[in-house]
Amino acid sequence: MINQNLKNKKIRKDLIKPVNKYSIFENPVLEAINLNVSYGKVLAVKDVNIQVPKNKVISLIGPSGCGKSTLIRCFNRMNDTIRIANISGQILYNKRNVTDIDPAEVRYRIGMVFQKPNPFPKSIYENVAFGPKVNGIKENLDQIVETSLKKADLWKEVKDRLKENAYGLSGGQQQRLCIARTLAVNPEVILMDEPCSALDPISTDRIEELIKDLSSSVTIVIVTHNMQQAVRVSDYSACMMAGEERIGELIEYGEVDQIFGNPKDKRTEEYVTGRIG
Ligand SMILES: Nc1ncnc2c1ncn2[C@@H]1O[C@H](COP(=O)(O)OP(=O)(O)OP(=O)(O)O)[C@@H](O)[C@H]1O
Ligand SMILES: [Mg+2]
Repeated sequence: MINQNLKNKKIRKDLIKPVNKYSIFENPVLEAINLNVSYGKVLAVKDVNIQVPKNKVISLIGPSGCGKSTLIRCFNRMNDTIRIANISGQILYNKRNVTDIDPAEVRYRIGMVFQKPNPFPKSIYENVAFGPKVNGIKENLDQIVETSLKKADLWKEVKDRLKENAYGLSGGQQQRLCIARTLAVNPEVILMDEPCSALDPISTDRIEELIKDLSSSVTIVIVTHNMQQAVRVSDYSACMMAGEERIGELIEYGEVDQIFGNPKDKRTEEYVTGRIG
């Protein structure tokens, strides 16, 4: 359950000013401030401070269980759907506390793509038209579907089978369909939690190309266990780590070249070189 104290909190100017070494961007689209997340009584993520700059790709790396999924689920209030999740601290979206914004709206503005493609059991067309329809858009749906599928690099493969069930697509195509579905409502941010881990190398390649293309107009936060992928697609990289007590913390955040080429924290170096994790 979301900490009730967060709900009515006004944005305080002093919280927007740099609070620590990770406050490096002037107008971050997303920001976590002193974020703690517990599941029941067990603290999973501790005191995370991170800013996500606009129209960049940020990779989130770190060993299994260090809290990467937990952190990105906070950005669009997906942790609200986990009954035992308890969050304290703040998540700001364009300097507004996400808890002050309707959760459905948060999730349209900040879309999410999961590890396993999860199209609806509907036609390809209806999958993409779903979000706009729910938002009351009745006109130009054909155009929205076409544009979204083009942006997701899927149009050519599906333009003659839009009425077919999405489950008939390959895994890679389904993942691009899920990206098209997210794009159809014009999100400002897309959160991707290991979007390629169930895909073959060619499908992975296409998603990576897509991420690079999209980043001119959308901010992308991608969780990945693939270090080469992080280097290929992201501008900035954030490394999380959990110690023996298994509480995840953000240990280093910076430009991807620095994180992979000249990490300041020994644990980051050990992780990116494959010595831990
Ligand atoms: N729904 C949940 N209920 C209880 N505990 C959870 C839940 N989700 C995550 N946790 C716990 O929180 C911690 C962080 O998990 P999280 O899934 O965020 O890690 P992760 O870095 O995404 O790991 P992976 O790389 O394996 O996906 C783990 O100890 C995990 O067991
Ligand atoms: Mg995860």
